[in-house]
Formats: sequence, structure tokens, C-alpha cells
Amino acid sequence: MFEVLPRLPADPILGLSAAYREDTNPNKIDLGVGVYKDEQGNTPILDSVAEAQKILLNEETSKTYITPQGVQGYIDGMLGLLLGKGHPVLVADRVAAVQAPGGCGALRILAELINRCQEGATVWVSDPTWANHIPLMESAGLKIEKYPYFDKATGGINFDAMAESLKANAKKGDIVLLHGCCHNPTGADLTKEQWHTVLEIAQSTGFTPFVDTAYQGFGDGLEEDAYGLRLLAENLPEMLIAASCSKNFGLYRERVGLAVIITNDSATRGILQSQIQSVARGSYSMPPSYGGALVNIILNSEELNQKWQNEVAAMRNRMQDLRVLLVDKLNEKGASTDFSFVTKQKGMFSFLCISPEQVQRMRNEHSVYFVDSSRVNIAGISKSNVDRLAEALVSVL
Ligand SMILES: Cc1ncc(COP(=O)(O)O)c(C=O)c1O
Repeated sequence: MFEVLPRLPADPILGLSAAYREDTNPNKIDLGVGVYKDEQGNTPILDSVAEAQKILLNEETSKTYITPQGVQGYIDGMLGLLLGKGHPVLVADRVAAVQAPGGCGALRILAELINRCQEGATVWVSDPTWANHIPLMESAGLKIEKYPYFDKATGGINFDAMAESLKANAKKGDIVLLHGCCHNPTGADLTKEQWHTVLEIAQSTGFTPFVDTAYQGFGDGLEEDAYGLRLLAENLPEMLIAASCSKNFGLYRERVGLAVIITNDSATRGILQSQIQSVARGSYSMPPSYGGALVNIILNSEELNQKWQNEVAAMRNRMQDLRVLLVDKLNEKGASTDFSFVTKQKGMFSFLCISPEQVQRMRNEHSVYFVDSSRVNIAGISKSNVDRLAEALVSVL
């Protein structure tokens, strides 16, 4: 039976990692895969996580199954982090949520839930968006449409075009996928004012926002990065949120996420809670417990929570400093293009707005690896490689 299936092309990011590993240049630079790296190029276990692991090792007494809903302390802690403790939708008991296997797991089960509500519903995604959004939505049966987002000429958002497109095209029953902060792949985020306009458009057209938040704390701060999603949650009857702890807790391989549905009223909340749990049960049954248990310990301990917040701030500040350093070095080396937009972008990624041919030259002539779209992982830059990176970039411009 298997002969009917064709071989699929390799994932471009994984192919890039393989090419990087095989490159024998001792000064090669990897700006491809989206994981945080420290100055030495490592992706360390956070101290707060290491301490939580010790506590869990002593406290855990069983490996029996957890429920499809997940660890309740984790869910409550994460809802506090996302929405802010005491957010009106929490007080009104309008929030259904399940722990999910990573942000991807959350996106996928919410997509399946949307498909249960309205088969083949349309999801509007930004152009461009994180590549995996499309298969995650389509494999649940949803249809993808794109709204304009990034403006290569300015390195920012073409907000007028985005707003016009949503106003004209997104209808009641459609879903609009928005990045909560630190847009992947462009690093270009909505301003507070623009979030207010998105809210007004949602109110006038009736579309349902679906906010994917995978980098809370990496942009302007844990609270600041939740501005948009909190605003929409407070002012709209319904919305969806997919959250990930992969980046801000450094828990990538533990697969820790949260799927959230905000409902019209408390009675509907109960229905949606049963539905999302049944989606989970029919897919992976129950989420992995370990990572959620660690986040539960951290968020519910004053001391560890503070330690974790300091660690998130250190990662955020390091990436912001690297943005400034890269642009300074590019100017110093005589770049013919103005890259100052990089310092305005947020989070782990930036689009350098160079052509795929220039990206190829960076790889072939300078052993600097990043994807053809020109998305770079800012955390892959370091004080020791930034000069080489800037020189290489200037030479291909
Ligand atoms: C925009 C966005 N959403 C969701 C995710 C999901 O992350 P994970 O499934 O690893 O938690 C990522 C990871 O790169 C992402 O960039």
C-alpha cells in the first residue's frame, strides 16, 4: 500500500542545519533554526528550570496518566501570564483551556476545534507568516488566505494595506491569525494603536481573532508583549489563543503549550472545554506532563518566578543589544543599505530584506547560514562573529 506515496522534499530549515553541520569552515555562522542561543552559541537550560527540575524530582511520586486537560496549576499560571491575573474574561469564567504539546499542538487542536464549528473555515494569515502555520491549519481541514503585512521597502508593516484587506475580505465566521508579539519571520510587530484598529475591524466585520503567542517576554517585556491579546480578549465576545513555552522557558523538546478559547459566556465555556478535551483525546489523548509541571512550579513560586523573569529579561536585552550592534557594525563597514529597521524589529527574528541570491552567496562564499527568505535568528549573532557577519553582508549587497 505504501507505494502510492511520493517522497516529499526535505524541510528547508532542517536541510540548512545539515549543510551547516557539514561545513568545515571554523568561522561558520548559523542564523537558521529558531532557538535562542547565548554568547557561546549554546541553548542552555535556564537556572529557574534547572531548580524546578530538582524540586519535581523530589516531589513527583507517580508517572500515571494526567488528564486530557493537563496540569491545572500550569493552566492557571499560564492564563495569568497571558491574560493578566484577574482579567475580566477570567473573572467572568469565559475561558476554556487545555495544556497542549507545544505551541504547534495548541495551534493544531484549535484548528480542529474551528473545523468542528465550521468545516473548511477560512483562516487569514499574514504575508509572510511562520511557515508551519499553513500545514497546521490546512491539515485540520481549514482554508488559508493571506492578508498583506510586511513592507520590504521600510522593514516595517504595511498597516494600511493590512487593515484595508481585513476590512474588505475577512467576514464573520472567518478566523484571522495574528502573532501576539515578535512576529515570525519578520520581527515587525503591531503598535498599540494598530492593535486598537485591528480590534475595531474585528468588531465591525465579526471575524474571530486567533492569536499565536510563542515569544512572550522576548519583545518589550512579559506584560507589554501581551498588550494586543489582552485588548482583544477584553473587548470581543470570542477569540482563540495558542501559547508556547518553548522559547521563553527554553523548554523546546519538552513540548509545552496552551490552547485557549474565550467564549461568549460561562455556559458556552463548559461546552467548549468538553469539545477541546475531546479533540485532544482523539489525537494524542493527553499532553506530556513533565514540561508543564516545571512551568507550574516556576509560575507558582515567588522566588523561581522572579528568577525566571530575570532570565527572560536577560535574553530579551541580549537580543536587543545584538540588533544595535549589528546595525552599528554594518554602518561602520560602509553598508550601502540602511539597516536601521533591524533595531526597531522585535524578538528573535528579522528579515534582512536581501534577495535569495544574496542569501546563497552568504552561504557559499562566507559560510553564513540562514533561510532564503532572509530571515535571521538574531540570537545566533555574538560579539565574536558580528564583525565577520557584517563584512560578509556588506560584500553581497
Ligand atoms: C510563531 C510560532 N508559533 C508557534 C511556534 C510553536 O512552537 P513549539 O511548538 O515549539 O512550542 C513557533 C515556533 O517556532 C513559532 O515561531
